[in-house]
Amino acid sequence: MSWRDFWNGEHAIYVSPRHKALHYRGIATDLISHIPSRDAVVLDHGCGEALDAGRVAAACGRLYLCEAAPSVREKLRAMLGAKANVAVVSPEEVEALPEATLDLVVANSLIQYLSRDELAALLVTWREKLRPGGKLVVADIIPPDVSPLTDASQLLAFAWRGGFLTAALAGLVRTAFSDYRKLRARYGLSTYRLEEITGLIAAAGFESVTPAKNFGHNPHRFTLVGRKAG
Ligand SMILES: C[S@@+](CC[C@H](N)C(=O)[O-])C[C@H]1O[C@@H](n2cnc3c(N)ncnc32)[C@H](O)[C@@H]1O
Repeated sequence: MSWRDFWNGEHAIYVSPRHKALHYRGIATDLISHIPSRDAVVLDHGCGEALDAGRVAAACGRLYLCEAAPSVREKLRAMLGAKANVAVVSPEEVEALPEATLDLVVANSLIQYLSRDELAALLVTWREKLRPGGKLVVADIIPPDVSPLTDASQLLAFAWRGGFLTAALAGLVRTAFSDYRKLRARYGLSTYRLEEITGLIAAAGFESVTPAKNFGHNPHRFTLVGRKAG
């Protein structure tokens, strides 16, 4: 099994429906805080189930939700119906978008599942599709020194605040025996030091690459914002 198969199949990354709902609500709020204007064209790359995408769509002009997993794209289409300003797209369809048409590209909790070559290729695509001055937000980047134990303690803190602690404890036990843990042990996750990933994003043609508040619940991971050079 690869990460792609994992995301395309049934998994228990979220320990309960409440966890999933609170997660996606928080991510949508964080994403909305980066939308530059009500008519902005926004791409959420690697959006997952994006349960609160309706709220994001209401805050921008057009929203592209890009997902590699066909099963997740089906769920998104079923959830969103015929929302006029939302398009659910595959990575190949992002490649086919006209150049210099996006105002904001967001990728939250995505790049840890990509190889360095895949990230380099995506940075080129994002730069091509953004308008000059358009904003790129790469969020939830994992630095090399954060262990799975830190992730677990941050999940428990989120669960305590969100009222799903019992489910989180049971979920952590399940995770210990899950495909996620086996895949993480086998393939690892791509991790980046701040200087390295800042340099990679800048080298791909983005300027003013600076840290911003991380998306979601884990302050041990980080977010970078850059602008396509004009
Ligand atoms: C950890 S989930 C993050 C989902 C969402 N962004 C969030 O913050 O909850 C990673 C998602 O990225 C998708 N994905 C992985 N590689 C991708 C790629 N190259 N292009 C688009 N989506 C991808 C996976 O299918 C999965 O749904």
